[in-house]
Parts: sequence; C-alpha cells; structure tokens
Amino acid sequence: MTPVILSGGSGTRLWPLSRGQYPKQFLPLVSGYTMIQETVLRLDGLAGLKAPIAVCNEDHRFMMAEQLREIGVRPAAIILEPVGKNTAPAVAMAALSAAEDDVLLVLPADHVVADRAAFHHAVLEARALAEQDLLVTFGIVATEPETGYGYIKRGSLRYGPAYKVDAFVEKPDAQTAQRYLESGEFFWNSGMFAFKAGVFLRELERFNPEMLAVCRASLQAAKPDLDFVRLDKQTFSTCPSDSIDYAVMEKTDKAAVIPLDAGWNDVGSWSALWDVTDKDGSGNAIKGDVLTVDTRNSFVHSSNKLVAVIGVDDLIVVETDDAVMIAAKDRVQDVKEVVEQLKTLK
Ligand code: GDD
Ligand code: MG
Repeated sequence: MTPVILSGGSGTRLWPLSRGQYPKQFLPLVSGYTMIQETVLRLDGLAGLKAPIAVCNEDHRFMMAEQLREIGVRPAAIILEPVGKNTAPAVAMAALSAAEDDVLLVLPADHVVADRAAFHHAVLEARALAEQDLLVTFGIVATEPETGYGYIKRGSLRYGPAYKVDAFVEKPDAQTAQRYLESGEFFWNSGMFAFKAGVFLRELERFNPEMLAVCRASLQAAKPDLDFVRLDKQTFSTCPSDSIDYAVMEKTDKAAVIPLDAGWNDVGSWSALWDVTDKDGSGNAIKGDVLTVDTRNSFVHSSNKLVAVIGVDDLIVVETDDAVMIAAKDRVQDVKEVVEQLKTLK
C-alpha cells in the first residue's frame, strides 16, 4: 500500500496564518510537527506500507522535501504541479506513477486524528476492500451539522464493515446539514480514500477520459529532478480542474464507505483549530503573547505583539506580521471572502 499525500491546497480559511507561499499543511498547527509530518507519522506501525508519494505545488517543493527529510522519510516521488487542478488530477498522477495493483491510501495533509489505533484499524479494513476492487472512502461519524465538510449517504448494501455509497453531497447549507445529521444516514466525507491505482484509473477513464489523457501526457513530458517529478506546465495547464469526489467518487458504482470514529477533524477553519487545541479553564485557546479578561471560548493567536482581549465570547483573533483578523467563531467559513477580496486588490 502506497500513501499518497495531497498537499496542493491553499488553506485560505486559515488566513492570515496560512498564506499562498506558506499554506497550512506546512505549518505546525496542532503539535511541534507540521500537518504534512503529522500525516506521515500517523502511519507509523502500519504493516506493508511503501514509501509515500507526495503531490504538491512546485513552489512548495523544498518545504515538502525538507519536512519529509526532518522525519526521516524518503518519498517514492514528489510530484510537482505547476498549477493546482484540484484533487482528481493529483490522485491520477500518483496512480499513474504506481503499479496497477498497488493500493493507494490517499491522505489529505490537513487532518487531525486523535485515535491512531482506530485509524489504523479502519485503514486495514479499507485495504482489504480495496483489494476487492472497491473504491473505499472513509466516512466520519457525524456529530454536528458541519457546513465545512462534504457528506456521504450510506446505502443499504453492506461489504463487511462498510456500506455501499448511495450519494456524495459537497458542503451543504446549515439546514440541509441539520437534516442529514438527524437522519443518521450520513457520514462526513473525510477526503481519505483507498483503492487500487488501476481501478481508480479505469473509473477515471470512464467518467473523465480527457482529464486522464492530459494527466498521462503531463507525466510523460515531465522532467525528473532528484526525487521531484516536474509535470509539464504547458500540458498540465490544459487539464480540467475537478475534485476526486465530483470527478470519480460520486459517479462510480464501486464506492464503499467505511465508518471511521477516531477523533477526526479537518483543521479547515479557525473554529476547527479551536476545537483541537488545548484550552484554558474558560475555553480559550491561546497562542503567543496574549492576555484575556472575562473572555470565553475564544481563539487568540499572537505572532508578534501583545494581544489583550476583554469581555468577549466566541471570538477569533489572529495577529501576524502584516495582518490582524477578528471574526465571530460562527462566521469563520467567511474568511474565504476576505481572501477573495484581497485577490482583487492585488
Ligand atoms: N496536490 C494537490 N493539488 N492537492 C490539493 C489540490 C490540488 O490542486 N487541491 C486541494 N488539495 C489537497 C489539500 O491540500 C488538502 O490536503 C486536500 O487536498 C483537500 O483539499 P481542501 O481544499 O482542504 O478541501 P476541503 O477541506 O475544502 O474539502 C474536502 O475535504 C473535506 C474533508 O477534509 C472535500 O473532500 C470535502 O467533501 C471533505 O469533507
Ligand atoms: Mg480541507
């Protein structure tokens, strides 16, 4: 089994800490290790693992190589995208680089998993199902009507511990999420998958032949450079952009969902980061030089200055070299809008 580490995202919802040149997966957000390192270290102890394949933007190649080296991991390849085309082409590149029968364990690089033993157990079950030519996705037992995640509806057909997937729904609105939660039939889509490289490629060929053709051509024209595989820019720029969920998973009839209850969290937003950070007696997660008075359930991050917060609840305050962000904790999904506005200013 080959781990495939997806780390081409921009992590815009964690602005102003996560930046284009330094996105969240390269930051030590939840421990002394960066999110990339956490993703790889989480696999320690799993038998039968091959060297990982990482797929990231070419601007981040040295950070990626260095962060893997720091934890003593020599990757099979670091595939460099000249431009982000979302997760489907990234996974296709890894699949084209692996042997057909190799099971790929696709792992986004921005997750926290508290219970490693439960995670390993689910991975081994997923591998067994992937060996039977299923495309396995890990479904998180939903506990809240989260709108920052996609959802997976389980079907009634069982494959041992897994279910056939009935439907994928990407990031619903709050009302729909509440309905899904109450129905008990939906998992959160973790964005982690296990399948044989060849099985994935055959499904991609069926549903998205153009994407597969461009990926093949980009890889054929790629320039190997140490552990790096530099995709050909001209070719890859013409690749259709799509997520693996839309491009393959929601179209295939071979999708199975394995339940995962392992303290999983996508550290996708400031409130998610607050969730997984140790807090003081008033529920405040504090980083850096911070003073709080009569403040509860807030996240306060200072990079340089002393930050003082008085008499507020459920607030996010983030101070960095060149920006300060203050947001209500239930509006953190809208940080994206600030980033969009910033793009129009540049
Ligand atoms: N190589 C590469 N290239 N990686 C990418 C690209 C790309 O163009 N775009 C995103 N990624 C990586 C990100 O770095 C991250 O590790 C992972 O793919 C998922 O991308 P996100 O941008 O974090 O997606 P999301 O969190 O908004 O949504 C996805 O994940 C959720 C769970 O974490 C969806 O699959 C949701 O349905 C799901 O609930
Ligand atoms: Mg994410």
